[in-house]
Amino acid sequence: MKVTKAVIPAAGLGTRVLPATKAMPKEMLTIVDKPAIQYIVEEAVRSGITDILIITNRGKGVIEDHFDRCPELEERLLASGKKDVYDEVVGISKLANIFFIRQKETKGLGHAVSCAKNFVGNEPFAVLYGDDVIIGEDPACGQLIRAYEEFGKAVVGIKAVSEEAIRKYSSLKLDPIRDNLFSCTDMVEKPQTKEEILSLYSILGRCVLTPDIFDILENTAPGAGGEIQLTDAMRTLARTVGMTGVDFTGIRYDMGDKLGILKATVEVALANPVLGEPFKEYLKETVAAF
Ligand code: UTP
Repeated sequence: MKVTKAVIPAAGLGTRVLPATKAMPKEMLTIVDKPAIQYIVEEAVRSGITDILIITNRGKGVIEDHFDRCPELEERLLASGKKDVYDEVVGISKLANIFFIRQKETKGLGHAVSCAKNFVGNEPFAVLYGDDVIIGEDPACGQLIRAYEEFGKAVVGIKAVSEEAIRKYSSLKLDPIRDNLFSCTDMVEKPQTKEEILSLYSILGRCVLTPDIFDILENTAPGAGGEIQLTDAMRTLARTVGMTGVDFTGIRYDMGDKLGILKATVEVALANPVLGEPFKEYLKETVAAF
């Protein structure tokens, strides 16, 4: 079955990026000239996704506004002859069929995904974490969808991380299939002891899930941090039917982390066709002066 639906959980509190995220959702923090979540929506669209559900909560209405039309602004842009900017602004509202639902309490990523049950119905679907921007030629979500189509199992996007980082993320039990593809048969969220670490591979920002995840989520008790963890539900899938791991190509930026935001800004700006050169010059001079 083709994967055409995606869910973007964007209802987290963003406590690691305070005070920036007190009133501004971290998903709306800018990388050069676009909010993080627009990069994520564009990646989904390039991967063949046509319908996207964004999970928000109180205070995140600005995300809805960003993907809506804005007639006053559009009229002004046309009247002042700024057709290029007009096209870009209108284009954002036409990227995909975008729907919104509110997660009424911030009970964790697993709970956020369970809010998508009616939207998803009986189809496989992609999940793109709202604070993980992945930049690459071949969209990461599409790489996972191809693995789903080949193996027919739920898929996790994976990357090797440091031992220090693995304790903050998840750790996966993997067996190589070929190239960057692995079979995943177990996982643990935020391993605390050395024995709990299954490998230094972690799930980073993307997965493709089958609808049976919803029943599993309903029976998943709160885990690390008292939240309903998506990893705990995916562990059931991994242990029973198995999952596929894709060590995706592309650079992942953690927009839920201050250093991650700075790296995204610098690297995306350096790759920008207009700003890249002058920004590089500016950086060289600035670094030399410090
Ligand atoms: P994180 O755990 O990174 O988000 O969740 P957080 O809770 O905002 O993190 P802190 O407070 O800085 O530690 C990963 C993704 O899941 C979403 C977040 O918005 C983020 O995109 N999420 C998390 C929800 O939608 N709902 C939740 O209850 C928790």
